[in-house]
Amino acid sequence: MNDVFRMDKAQPRLLDEMQQGVLGKPLDRSEGALKVSGLATYAAEVKLPGRVDGVLVRATITKGKVTGIDESSIAHLPGILGVFHGPKFLRNPAQGMADEAPSQPDTRVDYYGQPVALVVAESFEQARDGALNLKISYEAEEVSVDPLDEACHAPDNDGAVIKGEIDKVMTAADVAVDLTFTTAGHVAAAMEPHAAVAEWKGEHVILHGSLQMLRFNRNELADSLGIDPKYVRVLSPYVGGGFGSKLGVGAEAVAACLAAKELGRPVRVVMTRQNVFDAVLHRTQTVQRLRFAADKSGKLLAIGHDDLVTNLSDEGFAEPCSQASQFLYGAETLHFLQTVAQVHRTPTGSVRAPGEAVGMVPFEAAFDELAEKLDMDPVELRLKNIPDADPVDGLAYSARSLAESLREGAKQFGWDKRQAPRSRMEGEWYIGMGVASAARKNLLVPSAARVILRGDGAVVETDMTDIGTGSYTILGQIAAEMLGLPMEKVEVRLGDTDLPGASGSGGSFGANSAGSAVFLAAKKLREEVAGKLGCDVADLTLKDGIARGGNLEKPLSELIESEISAEGAIEGGKTSEEFLSSGFGAHFVEVAVHRWTGETRVRRMLGVFGMGRILNEKTARSQAVGGMIWGVGTALNEELSHDPRTGHLVSRDLANYHVPSHADIPGKMDVVFLEERDDQANPIQTKGIGELGISGAGAAILNAIHNACGVRVYDVPATPDKIVAGLEALEG
Ligand code: MOS
Repeated sequence: MNDVFRMDKAQPRLLDEMQQGVLGKPLDRSEGALKVSGLATYAAEVKLPGRVDGVLVRATITKGKVTGIDESSIAHLPGILGVFHGPKFLRNPAQGMADEAPSQPDTRVDYYGQPVALVVAESFEQARDGALNLKISYEAEEVSVDPLDEACHAPDNDGAVIKGEIDKVMTAADVAVDLTFTTAGHVAAAMEPHAAVAEWKGEHVILHGSLQMLRFNRNELADSLGIDPKYVRVLSPYVGGGFGSKLGVGAEAVAACLAAKELGRPVRVVMTRQNVFDAVLHRTQTVQRLRFAADKSGKLLAIGHDDLVTNLSDEGFAEPCSQASQFLYGAETLHFLQTVAQVHRTPTGSVRAPGEAVGMVPFEAAFDELAEKLDMDPVELRLKNIPDADPVDGLAYSARSLAESLREGAKQFGWDKRQAPRSRMEGEWYIGMGVASAARKNLLVPSAARVILRGDGAVVETDMTDIGTGSYTILGQIAAEMLGLPMEKVEVRLGDTDLPGASGSGGSFGANSAGSAVFLAAKKLREEVAGKLGCDVADLTLKDGIARGGNLEKPLSELIESEISAEGAIEGGKTSEEFLSSGFGAHFVEVAVHRWTGETRVRRMLGVFGMGRILNEKTARSQAVGGMIWGVGTALNEELSHDPRTGHLVSRDLANYHVPSHADIPGKMDVVFLEERDDQANPIQTKGIGELGISGAGAAILNAIHNACGVRVYDVPATPDKIVAGLEALEG
């Protein structure tokens, strides 16, 4: 690829001029039938002759080192083929976009449950038996696993944003709130556990994995194995959910490759659900201090959002809790300081909407408390504080539908019927409404794609993944719209590192990035078709396989002899330096809180979002609803618990870690998309969708709980015990 399009200035809205009429339509996912019929092959289902199974063995100390692995202890067991360990095995998963091997601590152990070896046997059961019986000796060190232990605190003073003197402003202000919240750790809990099947063909290794970002994963794997990336091919055509947990390669992939090489047979490693909890990056628990100062009219004078998150000391990730807090509202005085508690627990990493997902919960809940103190409507207070320019850097905003989302949501939800706290009851249930803003930063990641046009249809090729979000469908829709083809004439091939490298799925940037690459490739093909027809491309219309322009008309089947193909590639440019691009929206929630049990039932939710151009109304809605459901989990159920002695996860299966079930989710989950084009974001004017729905959703629930029963919960999730305690305190 030589010509990479740089996003240096707003581009014409070409997609709005296309005639096929498939873009934006609520089309079903094109690979849906394959998935529900079992024909879509997930990594663990790849059948290869001679394939054997490996099971990860995990550390039973918190910190220290492995001093011996006694392979003879399991040599007598049936089917055992080998025990694999050493410098390349002891590793944590790579963080998203690491693009190189994750830290390789050799025999060092950094957390309880860290993979230290792989036992391979003829069958999975035999391997599991071997893994359970393998004798390992350790040298253990005493270590703190408590994030509140100040000895392990590392403040990020360089990354802090501090303007003015917040303490002074808080003291002098008419109204101020200073609140501390805690939020629990979360796991992605994707339906498909992490899995890898590795096979070698000479110097080449093929990894069938469950991964989100193949272009990066290939380099991470090559670096881990100590070989050139040209010898590595990664295939992930179908991924059963990721939510960030599959951004980087993990122990299962590296171990499978090394064992397969040594044994000369394909090796499969599938994580158990408990492995996924123990040995995959999860979301940090947090402590967050929120400060708002305002004058009597509600105008903000100061915004403070400091946070404490956890990770191992050599991990290059810290949940950016105040990401949206820095641009959602404006004030002269700002204070954003992050501290990392370097504790020996399973490392933390990206889980859906890293930053906003847990950062906006206390931020928007504290803002609600400010509104109460000011005796102002919380929607009004938000509208009043929408800044003209980004308060930190002074950047202009690109398309921003925050005010419209709040107004439209209030209207559609019936916000005017909201009453004072604790004033509406139905039987034994307190009823209340809550609101919160939504924001999730919008990103563009370098991406390439190839589109091949034939007389009878087109093929889209990129290593982009579809992790259940709809990539197959939307990339097909973009190509179909641009090339004037019915959807069934466009084949989309994804999830193979032999294809042009795209962004992968992460940070909600997949549709923007890979979608733009497909668009740019198709745009080149339109120019070629116009040339063949003999008209100017500006006059070209493509619809249902017919090219028209300049009084000429010919079917593509006549214009194109065999095939023409083009590659499109994009990278960010000046617009990303000159504009702050973010998705914005508003959440409205109605809850019922039981007077005696403290149980919260979410009765209805409405999310109103400005997400740029909507490529597929159905997949976009599913993403938004999925995010809102995560908001329910964040506010009410989801909670990782750690053993205070070892730091080991205690809630490490789906029986003990509660994700919302169908019974927890109201039938009334409404989503409204506001018509929007983000001209500064990319040439298809889209914005990230996947993570906006979760951002702020949990706060709207907490705020509704307070409106219903008068209880504010600062230790999230708001489980019934905490609400009962709050009700008892209120009622004396
Ligand atoms: Mo996402 S948490 O970057 O998959």
